[in-house]
Amino acid sequence: MKDNRIMLTGFMGSGKTSVATALARELNYPFLDTDKYIEEREGMSVADIFAQRGEAYFRTLEHRITFDLMKDFSAVISSGGGYILTDAVYQQAASNFNLVFLDTPFEVCLGRIKTDQSRPLAAARTDEELLKLYNYRRGVYRARSDFSVDGSQKLLSDIVNEIIQKLR
Ligand code: S3P
Repeated sequence: MKDNRIMLTGFMGSGKTSVATALARELNYPFLDTDKYIEEREGMSVADIFAQRGEAYFRTLEHRITFDLMKDFSAVISSGGGYILTDAVYQQAASNFNLVFLDTPFEVCLGRIKTDQSRPLAAARTDEELLKLYNYRRGVYRARSDFSVDGSQKLLSDIVNEIIQKLR
């Protein structure tokens, strides 16, 4: 049953957390961010989990929390950029959430992630490498999400309204 459950997907820096927060407020649904949830559960930042336990371990944590995300009948979830990239996670997410791809241009994402040290995958890559990752992942987000919304719109409320209209 996924009618009232919405999950934002998209690249690092695409604006998933801001949009999901505003959407949850508008719909009056609970909001949850997968990275924050993992950080609270583990008592460690995502950056420290990557540094101390490695990316593969982080991906198992993403998998482990999938059932917790379904406890609410209604919810808006902001997922980490790699969340639906793992097949088993994607399958769970797709059957329980409306997956909404926030399609934001690379330059916008890059501008945000370059000034933020909390993203280990971005910190370890050059701009060219990030562009390659972006192009590859964009195809996956599009294929795996129920629909896309234009993340370059200036007003958060316009993005939120587009999502609400497309969900109808
Ligand atoms: C990741 C994105 C991050 C976080 C982790 C890995 C990714 O979340 O989950 O650093 O693989 O793209 P954001 O998309 O919120 O930056």
